Amino acid sequence: MPDLWQEAMDHAVAIARKAGEIVRDAVQNDMKIMCKSSSVDLVTKTDQKVEQLIIDSVKEKFPTHSFIGEESVAAGQPCVLTDNPTWIIDPVDGTTNFVHGYPFVAISIGFAVNKELEFGVVYSCIEDKMYTARKGKGAFCNGEPLQVSDQKEINQSIIATEFGSNRDPEVVNKIFSSMRKILCLPVHGMRGVGTAATNMCMVASGCVEAYYEIGIHCWDVAAGAVIVSEAGGVLMDVEGGPLDLMSRRVVAANNKTIAERIIKEIESFPAVRDDAP
Ligand code: IPD
Repeated sequence: MPDLWQEAMDHAVAIARKAGEIVRDAVQNDMKIMCKSSSVDLVTKTDQKVEQLIIDSVKEKFPTHSFIGEESVAAGQPCVLTDNPTWIIDPVDGTTNFVHGYPFVAISIGFAVNKELEFGVVYSCIEDKMYTARKGKGAFCNGEPLQVSDQKEINQSIIATEFGSNRDPEVVNKIFSSMRKILCLPVHGMRGVGTAATNMCMVASGCVEAYYEIGIHCWDVAAGAVIVSEAGGVLMDVEGGPLDLMSRRVVAANNKTIAERIIKEIESFPAVRDDAP
């Protein structure tokens, strides 16, 4: 049977590589930093330029496809996932890292059809690591197969999370409280590289057992979700049950035992859904 979406995936890899070159060049140069929802929710001209480049090139090749892009949504485009083939794009995941020259920045491209994720491409462009996964065909980094860790003991695990960009003191208390509880289980350590997509690739690579966060967006995790599940991992909601891409909550783990153990410790807080009217 022909693989309908292979051409789209090959295009995603090529355009992510090109976008990565632009991002790498821009890290060396002065950049104009702007704020979105708050003074810690940053965007640069590079985010906007890279998203436009990706959308223009996909539109030329696949004119009937739809898009959900971080910067397009920030500019007022709807964030609604339909059954139409849809590219879910974060042009610069880790914008804060990018602005500070902290060397983890990714281009994240997920692709869904009938609301099901078909492939994910995460290009960690400073490290030059191209993570790819196609539903049913495995996950890879620079062509090498990925496999999650087989650890089942939480006290032998590393857990990744992020602080996100919500600085409401009550939310920050909950974030710290969840981290404190997980740290004291105890776990071997807690990490976070400053990009949701790359954190998920760390789970897929087997060097951290789980990553969780509340407040991410669908474009931060769509591609990573395919990469984690194709590497043998699981995706869940922070209160249990399956991942809901639009809910702004994610647990990505090597297995259900680890996922459910950290879910017990996570104090959730409200986040407005990506697809809220
Ligand atoms: C952010 C990064 C960060 C996570 C935030 C995301 P952006 O994405 O993934 O690690 O903590 O929740 O919004 O804004 O750099 O594309």
